[in-house]
Amino acid sequence: MADAQGLPGMDRRTIYEKSCCGRRAYSLPATDVPEVPLDDLVPAGLRRQAPPRLPEMSEVDVVRHFTGLSTLNFGVDSGSYPLGSCTMKYNPRLNETTAQLEGFAGLHPYQPESLAQGAVELMWELGEWLAEIAGLARTTLQPAAGAHGELAGLLIIRAHHLAQGREPKRVIIPDTAHGTNPASVVMAGFTPAPVRSDARGGVDLEHLREVLAGGDIAGLMLTNPNTLGVFDENIVEIARLVHEAGGLLYYDGANSNAVLGISRPGDMGFDIVHFNTHKTFSTPHGGGGPGAGPIVVSAELAAYLPVPLVERAEDGRFFLDYDRPQSIGKMRTFYGNVGVLVRAHTYIRGLGPDGLRRVSETAVLNANYVMESLRGVLDVPYERRCMHEFVASATPLKEHGVRALDVAKRLLDYGVHPPTTYFPLIVDEALMVEPTETESREDLDRMVDVFRRIVQEAHDDPQKLLDAPVTMPVRRLDEAEAARHPVLRQRFPEDEEAGAC
Ligand SMILES: Cc1ncc(COP(=O)(O)O)c(C=O)c1O
Repeated sequence: MADAQGLPGMDRRTIYEKSCCGRRAYSLPATDVPEVPLDDLVPAGLRRQAPPRLPEMSEVDVVRHFTGLSTLNFGVDSGSYPLGSCTMKYNPRLNETTAQLEGFAGLHPYQPESLAQGAVELMWELGEWLAEIAGLARTTLQPAAGAHGELAGLLIIRAHHLAQGREPKRVIIPDTAHGTNPASVVMAGFTPAPVRSDARGGVDLEHLREVLAGGDIAGLMLTNPNTLGVFDENIVEIARLVHEAGGLLYYDGANSNAVLGISRPGDMGFDIVHFNTHKTFSTPHGGGGPGAGPIVVSAELAAYLPVPLVERAEDGRFFLDYDRPQSIGKMRTFYGNVGVLVRAHTYIRGLGPDGLRRVSETAVLNANYVMESLRGVLDVPYERRCMHEFVASATPLKEHGVRALDVAKRLLDYGVHPPTTYFPLIVDEALMVEPTETESREDLDRMVDVFRRIVQEAHDDPQKLLDAPVTMPVRRLDEAEAARHPVLRQRFPEDEEAGAC
C-alpha cells in the first residue's frame, strides 16, 4: 500500500496505523482460578522474550478502521465499472445467501461423498449446465481462475497429441489475445505462434494460412468475441483450417457474457472452453481469488480431464471419480472453490436459459448504446457493431498532452471506474469499455456524459486531467512500486517517527 497523498487529513496514519499503547478492544474479569507458574506451562527457553507486536486499539477504532477501509476502494457496488474484458457486473446478493447455507459453507473437504450428496449434485448439475452453454460434453470445475483453466486446457491438448504419437510445439495466438494466453502456452511447454488481425478486427485468414503452413501446430487459442469486442465472422473457416492442420481449438471464454444462449463455442468448432465464473456468472472477482475457471471439453477429450471428476452412478448417487488413467492429474487440491461454484449455480439457476440469453442481449445493447453515443467524442477505430464491449482510442487527445491514462484517472473523480487501458495492444491509447447488462439506461447516459465532459476538459483545461484523481483517498500511485514492494503490515512507532503513542 503506497502512502496516501490525496484528500486533506488522509495521511497514512489516519487511514492505516491507529495503534496506541495500552488501548484494548476487550476487558476480562479478574481470574478466579490459581495462576500456574509460566515455567510449568512453557519452558523459559521456548518463550518469547518480548510480547508480540500487535496493534493496540479500542473496539470502536477497530470497527471504524475496517469500515473505513471498505470504503477506500472503488468497487462494483460503488458505481459504474466498465472495465473491459473483466465483466464487472453486479453480483446478486442471493448468491451470498446460498453460499452461506450450512450444507455448503460447513463442508469439510475430507467429508465422504455419501454425507455431501447435495453439494456433489450441485457440482454435477453446474457441470451439465456449463456443458450445455458451451455446446460441448464434459466439465471440470477444478481450475481456480480463467488462466488456470487455460493451463488445464493446454495440458489436455498436449495429452491428446501425445496419445496419438505426436508432439507438436506451436499454439497460434491472435495479436488481440489476453496476455494470459501466450503465458499459459509457454507454461504448458508450447511456443506461441502469433497471427495478425485483419481490418475488421478478426483473425487475418491469409496470415493464418501462412502460420499453419509452417506446420508443428498443436492448436489455436481464441476469444470470440475478441478483446476488440468484435465477433469473428470467419470462425467456422478458422476451425476448419486448424482442424485440417491437426490442431485443436481452445476458446478463451472470458467474453462469454456476449453470447450466452445465442451462440455456443462447441457449435463454432471449438474443442475446449473455459469460463471465468467471476466475469460471466457473477461470482466475486475478489483480488484474484478464490475463483473458478471451469473448462468444458468435447467427448473425445473427456478422458484427459483432471481428477477427480464428478460422476453420477446408475443408481443416481453422485461420486468423485479418481479412477481415470488418462487424466492429466490434479490441477488443484480437492474439487475447486466450492463456495464460488455455489454462487455461479445460483446465478444460472435464477436466470434460466431465457434469462441468460437476455443477459447477453442486454450487455450487447448497452455496449452499442455507449459506443454510438461516444462516436465523434472519442476515436472508435473499428467501424462495426460491437458485442458486449468496444475499444475506443484517446489518440486525438494527445495533441493536448493528454493520454488514455489521464482520461481513466479523471473518470474516478466523476464516480466512474476507468475502463481497461492500453489493451488490446493493437489499438493506440486504447480505452476498452464494457458497460455490462446490469447498468441502467440512466447509468449509461451518465457514463457517456462523464466521458463527454472529460474530453471537453482535455480541450479546455488539460491540467485537470493530468492532476486527476483529486477526489480519491490516494492520487496517482507508482503502480510498479506498489505491486513489487507492497506495505502489508502495521508499522509501529518504533519503525517510523510519526504517531508515537
Ligand atoms: C480475455 C481474457 N482471457 C483470460 C483472462 C484470464 O482470466 P483470469 O483473470 O480469471 O485468470 C482474462 C482476464 O481478464 C481475459 O480478459
